[in-house]
Amino acid sequence: MTRDRALCLPSARSDVPAFMVMDVMSAAARLEQAGRHVIHMEVGQPAAPAPATALAAAREALGGSGAALGYTESLGIPSLRRRIAHHYEEAYGEAVDPATVVVTTGSSGAFVLAFLALLEPGDRVALSVPAYPPYRHILTALGCEPVLIRTGADTRFALTPEALLAAHREKPLKAVLVASPANPTGTMMTAEALAELVATAEDAGIAFISDEIYHGLDYAFPATTALTASRRAVVINSFSKYFCMTGWRVGWMIAPEILVRPMERLHQNLAISVPTLSQVAAQAAFDGRAEMEAVKAGYARNRDILVKGLPACGIERFLPVDGAFYLYADVSDFTPDSHAFARALLEEAGVAVTPGLDFDPVSGHHFVRFSYARSEADMIEAVDRIGRWLKGMG
Ligand SMILES: Cc1ncc(COP(=O)(O)O)c(C=O)c1O
Repeated sequence: MTRDRALCLPSARSDVPAFMVMDVMSAAARLEQAGRHVIHMEVGQPAAPAPATALAAAREALGGSGAALGYTESLGIPSLRRRIAHHYEEAYGEAVDPATVVVTTGSSGAFVLAFLALLEPGDRVALSVPAYPPYRHILTALGCEPVLIRTGADTRFALTPEALLAAHREKPLKAVLVASPANPTGTMMTAEALAELVATAEDAGIAFISDEIYHGLDYAFPATTALTASRRAVVINSFSKYFCMTGWRVGWMIAPEILVRPMERLHQNLAISVPTLSQVAAQAAFDGRAEMEAVKAGYARNRDILVKGLPACGIERFLPVDGAFYLYADVSDFTPDSHAFARALLEEAGVAVTPGLDFDPVSGHHFVRFSYARSEADMIEAVDRIGRWLKGMG
């Protein structure tokens, strides 16, 4: 090995798996460059823009002298933190102290801060499987151990108190991370199931982290915040999904008081603050709820198109389509390899979906995830293409 190469060898902790959906996106982009029309059901991001109120606030901030766009306080612009706290009163009837709101670079930034503030290297963190891949990859990069707990149809694919305690008995857990609505499954926990899991975790000394990024996008029943069950839970949310602001990179945390100062110190050192323009826009996004409810109504129509259309194509087994904008389907009647299935569906029918292996290293080869965050016309066209393609296979 040359000396230069040895000096720059990547660390073992950097050896995290790629996020497969990104590879599907690249393959779809190559087809589009070659002139093909691809329907994008692989990406977990809204096609709609940020609320007009957010865009107007950003334009106004840019139109001024620019002096307002310096660093902000590490925990976030105070008026944004107050507005986020007020959102809990409006949406859930929960009083939140603005001093416990931490503004982050998307919920992704919140995971890093929460894990660093709560965990030591080697700590074990329970995750349900299937789950959003970066949870386990960030934990691994930080030297912690993700503990994958399988879920099934009998529990609506939610983690149960029994399964959590069984993993804790094997070797103690430090924390558990749960999302409802979840990605990739689109399933949700009932308020009772969530409260029971939070209570079980805390009684056993396991910290509860709740990823509530898909709140607001619920169709089966309203999502409940873990804060209702416990003020010791770390609650993470984002402007990316409901508010259609993925690229603005703003999220937040409601943190137990004892963690706020450590998180502030970490954030001061890691990022200083979240981009100011994005924080200004995010605060104004709360005034754009009527527009976002119309976007949500579009997802609900897309959901109906898939729930009716996919069984007519032969894809009859999928998880309860409760929330977010995902449908997780079992395609094992057609293939033992969902990766190859997704590749063929893209190349032959021009529909991009994400193979389940991204979310579940064990059973993911039976599943693909459909995202229905695009237009209604795209959904109708996708069902038509999938139907014709599967017929050709049979
Ligand atoms: C479950 C879940 N959590 C967190 C994120 C990260 O989102 P962001 O960092 O944009 O807030 C995503 C993105 O797809 C997600 O699906």
